[in-house]
Amino acid sequence: MCGIVGFTGRENALPILIKGLYSLEYRGYDSAGIAAFTKDGLRVVKTRGRIANLEEKIREEGDLYCNCGIGHTRWATHGEPSDRNSHPHLGGRDGKGKVAVVHNGIIENYKELRERLEAHGYVFQSETDTETVAHLVDYLHTGKQEDLAKTVLAAVQRIRGSYALGVVSMDNPEEIVAARRDNPLIIGVGEGENMIASDITAIIGRTRNYIILDDNEVAIVRPDSVVVMNEFGDVVEKNVQTVNWDMSAAEKGGYEHFMIKEIMEQPKAVADTVKPRIQNNAVVFEDNGLTDERLRDIENIHIVGCGSALHAGMVGKRVIEAMCRIRCTAEVASEFRYENPIIGKKDLCIVISQSGETADTLAAMRLAKQAGAFTVAIVNVVSSTIAREADGVLYTWAGPEISVATTKAYSAQLSALYLISVKIARTRGLISIGDERALCAELQRLPSCIEKALMCQEDMQRIATLYANRPSVFFLGRGLDYAAALEASLKLKEISYIHSEAYAAGELKHGTISLIEEGTLVVALATQPALFEKTVSNIREVVSRGAVVVLVTTDDFTGDESVCQHIIRLPKCLYEFSASLSIIPMQLLAYYVAVERNCDVDKPRNLAKSVTVE
Ligand code: F6R
Repeated sequence: MCGIVGFTGRENALPILIKGLYSLEYRGYDSAGIAAFTKDGLRVVKTRGRIANLEEKIREEGDLYCNCGIGHTRWATHGEPSDRNSHPHLGGRDGKGKVAVVHNGIIENYKELRERLEAHGYVFQSETDTETVAHLVDYLHTGKQEDLAKTVLAAVQRIRGSYALGVVSMDNPEEIVAARRDNPLIIGVGEGENMIASDITAIIGRTRNYIILDDNEVAIVRPDSVVVMNEFGDVVEKNVQTVNWDMSAAEKGGYEHFMIKEIMEQPKAVADTVKPRIQNNAVVFEDNGLTDERLRDIENIHIVGCGSALHAGMVGKRVIEAMCRIRCTAEVASEFRYENPIIGKKDLCIVISQSGETADTLAAMRLAKQAGAFTVAIVNVVSSTIAREADGVLYTWAGPEISVATTKAYSAQLSALYLISVKIARTRGLISIGDERALCAELQRLPSCIEKALMCQEDMQRIATLYANRPSVFFLGRGLDYAAALEASLKLKEISYIHSEAYAAGELKHGTISLIEEGTLVVALATQPALFEKTVSNIREVVSRGAVVVLVTTDDFTGDESVCQHIIRLPKCLYEFSASLSIIPMQLLAYYVAVERNCDVDKPRNLAKSVTVE
């Protein structure tokens, strides 16, 4: 949510900042801007809209050569997307500004700060919370000997809320001061140049070495040095880490959109997640804290996440309960954190997040931890906040996911949940060694089943062309198919802007069936042989009210095909893992419908990839 980039070095910073912003654009794309130290002093260029609009404006404004600057791409919270609400914001009483600030997060006490700063003569140009930080830094900085970093430290101590900040001041045009609390910020460490960024994709074109800034730390970033201080102003030693994937993973590689590339990468994402955890036909967890002793003692399992991560959790809940017979809930993190959940000391809390930064998921995890539960995070972004704060981590090795709508990370999350389920079931003696061997073999076979499922690509493209103009779509399923239907519906609505709903197949007739009329598109998922007939009966109910039905089922479907207009047959896999296959045609349907409707597939309106506000 919002992307920050900064560069200080010997080369022209402008193209580096623009490139960095493009790679962060998935985090927010309501507006963009940069602040640069040029020969004419500190200049800010910003505009509503995409980075391309910013580039256009920079071209119009002329020469912006600089060696140091900061940039921002915004997902609007306080104030509509507009030129004046775009970042960077300048701080200063005279309206000219000596300090420029980019910010990701929310300043909760901004109103109070704003009133106090206005009383000191500051005139606000925008409706944002960020502008209070710019003026506050200016206020604390003006006329004092303190360096900028100490001033930023003093400023953040007066702030309530969350932030990742990049601050520059005319007093030192080679320096960027960075600070963070509850919002990610890294420092790219180069040779004679250094960067700040919201995530690795913005620095990887220049350096593979980076430092993760921790909460309440402030960094002074200059071309030849990086100094990090804690909240007391003491210098702290930081580890320099190295990125272990290469640039091509964050590029489209010949595909039209990241989303379709990432859909196609799912066999690999699942294989990379599963493979290292299966040794000698058994699930082996090395360092995530899920010891046999702990797994034997678990009383309840709470799964928390948001959006697709929650949907993966809903599949996980069903698989875990079926395989391990432990009570397991899957809850929306933003609800869980405020509903005083009953958490026992022997409970396990599984936190799911692609980004590892989702504010509600992080808060839910902290709550569970505080209540004494053991927390294990299924996370894709290495060293993200959730990964670092959880008691144990099970990384999904899906690689960087750039498309805002998740696909491969979701699939990798499912496979991580299957691994946990098999491990718990075996540890508690619910399955034999032979069963575990068979389950592991099925897990290892899953990538090739997904590959086969992807062969429905052309069918889904054709179906998408036929129905892309429908005003609303219903997804039906029972059990695991219901959990998959929820994800299918989310995928469609978020990228194609078609209203859609997912229903437990047996539930539709309790009210919602009144929405079914001649030509309504219903997508029914039926991959559980034991429930084929039940789901077919529910399909008949909508067909007799005029619905057009796409049925997604397995190779061995034996029910009556005449109930549907289109049938998609998926390869057979163990039924516990079937949600990994049924989601494939659904992702393709959403993708091709969105393409057909000329939607911005990778950057759907109003959305952002990493949701760091609650
Ligand atoms: C939908 C989607 C979102 C995320 C949700 C949680 O395609 O991507 O629903 O799943 O915002 O994000 P993470 O997994 O980063 O916590």
